[in-house]
Amino acid sequence: MTSTSRLRLGVLASGSGTNLQALLDACASGALPAEVAAVIVNVPGARALERARAAGVPALLEPHQGFGTRQAYDAHLVEILRRHRVELVCLAGYMRIVSTVMLEAFPDKVLNIHPSLLPSFPGLHAQRQALEAGVRVSGCTVHVVDQGCDTGPIVMQAAVPVLEGDDEASLTARILVHEHRCYLRAVRLCAEGRIEIVREGGTARVRVRANAGPPEAFVASPPYQDPR
Ligand code: GRF
Repeated sequence: MTSTSRLRLGVLASGSGTNLQALLDACASGALPAEVAAVIVNVPGARALERARAAGVPALLEPHQGFGTRQAYDAHLVEILRRHRVELVCLAGYMRIVSTVMLEAFPDKVLNIHPSLLPSFPGLHAQRQALEAGVRVSGCTVHVVDQGCDTGPIVMQAAVPVLEGDDEASLTARILVHEHRCYLRAVRLCAEGRIEIVREGGTARVRVRANAGPPEAFVASPPYQDPR
């Protein structure tokens, strides 16, 4: 990326699309040196598609049914993403595991947001898992996608308290606010070319190249104000 170019994002979504909206808004306002080059939604009726259309960015509904394999579907998505000259793929509430076809087309260039402090509570219903485990702190994680489920190198995390009386809905809502912030910060680091994947002894982790100022790989939560 040159100093004048904007990183071209491809966003994959399946649901309500609030993380997508955060990316759209930050790109439109210029807060993020990036642009949403394409949005692909795999679930008909998903609110994410409406959000993309309302923002006037290329928005495609591409149901996965009818493709024989995960690889065949991903090859189709890769073709679309390449056609839109996407440089970074952002999974934003995308409820499918991507295959090696996607990962090899965009090596270390696929990000995901997950509603827990990984490696705790990967997979589905992360907030419910956190409540069932009785943890006092949960949060969210942006990570580079690898072949596992929510196992890739961690770019950014935010911690969120779990409060007495929380249920899945209240914890989900509290975490979601931080997801939006975390995702924007992580994409900004990518747009600034500051993310490096370091592979040592079979493990991979993210190194954030230094800039002036404090380390950015952790977002401290502001003190929680109980509205009651
Ligand atoms: C978020 O909690 C995200 O972490 C998870 O699915 C939810 C999607 O939210 N993967 P949205 O579609 O961005 O509103």
